[in-house]
Amino acid sequence: MNQTRRGFMGKAFGAVAGVGAVGALYAMKRSWDPLPSVKAAGFTTIDLSSCTANKLIVEKWRGKPIFVLRKTAEMVAAQNEAQTARDIVVDGSHYMIAIGLCTHLGCIPAYRADKTDFKCACHGGEFDSSGIETLAPPPSPLVIPPFKITGTSVVLGEEGPEYTKMKEAGVVA
Ligand code: FES
Repeated sequence: MNQTRRGFMGKAFGAVAGVGAVGALYAMKRSWDPLPSVKAAGFTTIDLSSCTANKLIVEKWRGKPIFVLRKTAEMVAAQNEAQTARDIVVDGSHYMIAIGLCTHLGCIPAYRADKTDFKCACHGGEFDSSGIETLAPPPSPLVIPPFKITGTSVVLGEEGPEYTKMKEAGVVA
């Protein structure tokens, strides 16, 4: 009787643990590959159509973290000219897409959705939702990588007309 009970408990525990493991794997998969993307020979193509507003997505391009932030209508409405100049507009939505490395000493800042800004834990630097530095020590904005818009996707590593325009306006180096 005791034996049977132990056997049953063992099976029940195994089943619960199994469900937990699948959940953990699913969560890990989601953090590895948050948006449909294709990586090939120095290019990363990110499909932005499933992006949620005010939720930071971190992709990868040439070994660097890439921040992708879809802005809410309220965020866009509250922006100044310098912030809007850094927006990448895809399919009518405004995005901040930038290399996710602090321009001070290269830490990865964290996004604070409640404040719609970035905080760098290393030395306290801050950036707004357009990636512009708002609190020292970062000396300059987060870097916008070369990009090209194709439909609802961006191709990182390729220079499209929108990137060229930003370059001419002095928004990117
Ligand atoms: Fe970000 Fe120093 S590395 S503030």
